[in-house]
Amino acid sequence: MGNEKVRVLLIEDTTANAGLLVDELRKSGLDPLWHRIDNEEEFLAQLKPTPDIILSEYRTQNFSALRALELLKQKGLDIPLVIVTSNISKAAALDSYKQGAEAYILKDCLSSLGVVVERALGQKKLREEKNAAIMALEESEKLFRATAEAAPDAIICIEEPDGIYFWNRRAEEMLGYSSSEVMGKALHPFVVPERYYERAVKGVHEFFRTGRGPNIGKIVEFEAKRKDNSEFPIELSISSIKVDGKWKAVGFIRDITERKRAEEERLKIQKLEALSLLAGGIAHDFNNMLTTILGNAESADQEKDPAEVHKKLIEAERVILRAKNLSQQLMTFAKGGTINKKTLSVSALIEEAVFTSIKAENIKYDLICPEQTWPIDADEVEMSQVLSNIILNAEQAMPNGGRIEVKCSNESLGKGNPFQLEEGRYVKVSIKDTGHGIPKEDLKRLFEPYFTTKQRGKGLGLAIAYSIIRSHAGFITVESKVNVGTTFYIYLPAVNTFTSRM
Ligand SMILES: Nc1ncnc2c1ncn2[C@@H]1O[C@H](COP(=O)(O)OP(=O)(O)OP(=O)(O)O)[C@@H](O)[C@H]1O
Ligand SMILES: [Mg+2]
Repeated sequence: MGNEKVRVLLIEDTTANAGLLVDELRKSGLDPLWHRIDNEEEFLAQLKPTPDIILSEYRTQNFSALRALELLKQKGLDIPLVIVTSNISKAAALDSYKQGAEAYILKDCLSSLGVVVERALGQKKLREEKNAAIMALEESEKLFRATAEAAPDAIICIEEPDGIYFWNRRAEEMLGYSSSEVMGKALHPFVVPERYYERAVKGVHEFFRTGRGPNIGKIVEFEAKRKDNSEFPIELSISSIKVDGKWKAVGFIRDITERKRAEEERLKIQKLEALSLLAGGIAHDFNNMLTTILGNAESADQEKDPAEVHKKLIEAERVILRAKNLSQQLMTFAKGGTINKKTLSVSALIEEAVFTSIKAENIKYDLICPEQTWPIDADEVEMSQVLSNIILNAEQAMPNGGRIEVKCSNESLGKGNPFQLEEGRYVKVSIKDTGHGIPKEDLKRLFEPYFTTKQRGKGLGLAIAYSIIRSHAGFITVESKVNVGTTFYIYLPAVNTFTSRM
């Protein structure tokens, strides 16, 4: 602290006495800017601006160190006061400490004055820094509270072991509990629906132990429970902080009831639009088919030649089968879910589909399906429909002939796989053709209902395949190169895919 200007207020009877102290301070390398007073009035006048330190005789003629300490206390001023005196009793010294004196020094040991003053100034600085830090902390705490209270989302903070330590106003409105009801208690009984309870509690324990968890740092959708036990959809984002070696979590909860409702509404409207489009198309198709059937029936009725009658009836039967097939596809589409699941061998399904779908003679095929391919749980009719829709497309993409290769293999998919499928065991089926391929701009729309490039296509084959595969918790995707060929890949969960992980 050498040569720093120090504002010193001296309470002394004489200037000579004061001068001795000032000399001593200079000797210690301090640069005192000093003023001497010897009465209360002058003392009060000298407190502005506040001196850095006060050196005071224990008692002067008109004033005393203890009175000065009292006045400082009254004014709430933190100015270190060191008593410098020729004589002081033990009791008086003790009393002066009680009243807040920083130290006392006897005038015949003045050599320690510099050190004592420097130490007192250092401690005062520390106190000031601490106060400033506390004030900054209080301010940031106030800011946090003001922000959190005004936030449109519920904000909840939890820590171990006391649970909830912050619950903002929006949380009160959204969940129905006041902050005082939940403070210091475990979070889950209040907000987590019973069926998710165990998993949530496990997750939170793991978080407190490791600071990690599957939902930290992400935005995830869940359901939450209100005080009245009603449930509602939420979007939750959690961030984590470590304070004093302990993990704390801050959760932001957004009520997405309205958004979900709007989404559902939009889907309903889309479905209605799709249905009206579909109804129009079907009415037209069925009408054509009925006309053909009727025509054949009438002409068969008038036909004498049995061979011709037979031909007409066969023709009518073919159209009836087409109509049946169409209505079956539509039923699957309308239902949108699987009902008849059983354990199936993929290779048997594929063989059947290839044999029944490939009609053209200029199409060759290869089947590569190893015996150890895992079985799947699926609806047989629906799965055959998927395969035959894809194989039929392949055939139609090769009017001048070509080759279809159907392959299956076992695949284990981990967490974070590109298809966003659950971790587990899958059977992968690929169906490759050497047809005309699909231009890039069409690839995006391939699975849309009614997307077709064919003159007599309905654009339903792949939309139906997609919805069936998704309802089996699988995935379908495609790769294609114009003039080279197209490959469809299907992933289907193998039997026991999830229990096998336990
Ligand atoms: N293997 C393929 N090669 C080339 N293009 C294909 C292939 N598979 C599908 N496509 C393209 O995707 C479109 C949609 O196929 P999708 O099976 O959904 O309908 P579609 O075959 O046109 O009619 P349908 O409802 O009778 O099946 C087809 O029109 C075609 O352009
Ligand atoms: Mg098709």
